[in-house]
Amino acid sequence: MADIYEAITKDHDKARDLMKQIMDTTNRAAKKREELFETFKLDMWSHNKIEEALFYEPLRGAKETRGDAMEAVNEHHVAGGLLEELDVMPKDSEAWIGKFTVLKELLEHHMEEEENEIFSDARKVIAKDRAEELGDKFQSRKRVVVPALTPEA
Ligand SMILES: [Fe+2]
Ligand SMILES: [Fe+2]
Repeated sequence: MADIYEAITKDHDKARDLMKQIMDTTNRAAKKREELFETFKLDMWSHNKIEEALFYEPLRGAKETRGDAMEAVNEHHVAGGLLEELDVMPKDSEAWIGKFTVLKELLEHHMEEEENEIFSDARKVIAKDRAEELGDKFQSRKRVVVPALTPEA
């Protein structure tokens, strides 16, 4: 069983791996890049939304973590905008990979901040058994949302 911190970190590791795979594609392998990006986009978007609903919601309510929560949700918003822009751009260009690099750096920094700073503050606000319930919820919501949003082949 994973608590909310483990569930989020596991998801971050998956995102880091997908971003690396996308960076390794060439402009000529646009189809591969497109497929990987489609997976990454749904995964990251749902990660952020579920994280907001389950993890940042209690943090927004506590005065010691309110600032962290507001900053993080704003970063999700910026990442969401970049995901949308990347979604409609031709994938076989330097411009695309340039914009993707900006998103990758933003998200890497964001995830590190969550893991290294926000988690320790959150532990003061979210009780241990609540953190375990939230971890289960996070994983089960993620398991439902990603397939629900995936287009049929
Ligand atoms: Fe986040
Ligand atoms: Fe996250």
